[in-house]
Amino acid sequence: MRITVDGKEIQAKEGSSVLDAVLEAGIFIPHLCSHPDLEAKGGCRLCSVEIDGVEGAVPACKTNVEEGMNITIHGEEAEKVRRTAMELILATHPADCTGCPKFGKCELQSMYQYMGVSAERWRKKSRSVANDDTNPLISHLFTRCVRCGRCIRACQDLRGVKVLDYIKTNTGIRAGIPEGKTLKEAGCRFCGACIEVCPTGSIMDAVKIMKPERSYDENIVPCKSICPAHIDIPAYIRYIREGDFDKAAAVIREKVPFPEVLGSVCTHTCENSCKRGELGEAVSICKLKRAAATEESGSWKQYVRKEGSTGKRWLLSEQDRQDLQVHIILLKRSCSYCF
Ligand code: FES
Repeated sequence: MRITVDGKEIQAKEGSSVLDAVLEAGIFIPHLCSHPDLEAKGGCRLCSVEIDGVEGAVPACKTNVEEGMNITIHGEEAEKVRRTAMELILATHPADCTGCPKFGKCELQSMYQYMGVSAERWRKKSRSVANDDTNPLISHLFTRCVRCGRCIRACQDLRGVKVLDYIKTNTGIRAGIPEGKTLKEAGCRFCGACIEVCPTGSIMDAVKIMKPERSYDENIVPCKSICPAHIDIPAYIRYIREGDFDKAAAVIREKVPFPEVLGSVCTHTCENSCKRGELGEAVSICKLKRAAATEESGSWKQYVRKEGSTGKRWLLSEQDRQDLQVHIILLKRSCSYCF
């Protein structure tokens, strides 16, 4: 469908929110509490826009596109709501950005710099909460919480763990763990989703597994990213748990030959990065690999195709021979197992 944004006509997917449609068209609207993986709640009001025929400014993340909709991002009313919303967030947020572990990568910082807003109009309210570094894997620095609720939605709706929630404190409402429990006591699975979606430095990875240069998957599954062959370790362990050794071995064979041999001689650096190590003992990834190979039925062998000999021999040119040597040198550098 077609919609108009600040006088420019763009195409939008039916059923998408105004925010998603506009961002997809390469036009920016500030936003903070929305996240592509989470249901929009429209809490921060930073994405407020004006829509013809609708009174006042409305959150773009909570409004679906309609054919012919005429949207104004930079209208007076929308600008006013956005600026006030940002000022109020900043009024209760620590001013010392440089001391924050998320400095330079903080979404809040990017948004207020883009909007050119400071909290000067408002009396600064301090909401100091002691940092909690007692949990394994996750540090809570809730003084920096902007109550966007992304971590809570990730924990409750996305992962269904339901450990994080809004809690009332004598300095106001913030995200936290009810009843003063630790993450472990509350049943946290340490999946790291809350760290990933937190837009500020409020929830951080305590053991610095989250490396900005790595992808989301690599950060969340360090064993797989550290494995030189990038075997999908969680997938084969899941199949073993289900008793499906054939599929487990197939997952390993997708990346490496000889799973049984590798399950015996591999140096298993993946186990050093296993997040369970922080909670007790690392998972025996290497032995599980061997178990997958020794327990599988071998039914895949019926699909192996052997072609008859053609009687031809490879005759390499001098150039081919040199290229082959270079490939072997490169292989030796990248695979320490077979060479
Ligand atoms: Fe839409 Fe926060 S991003 S209200």
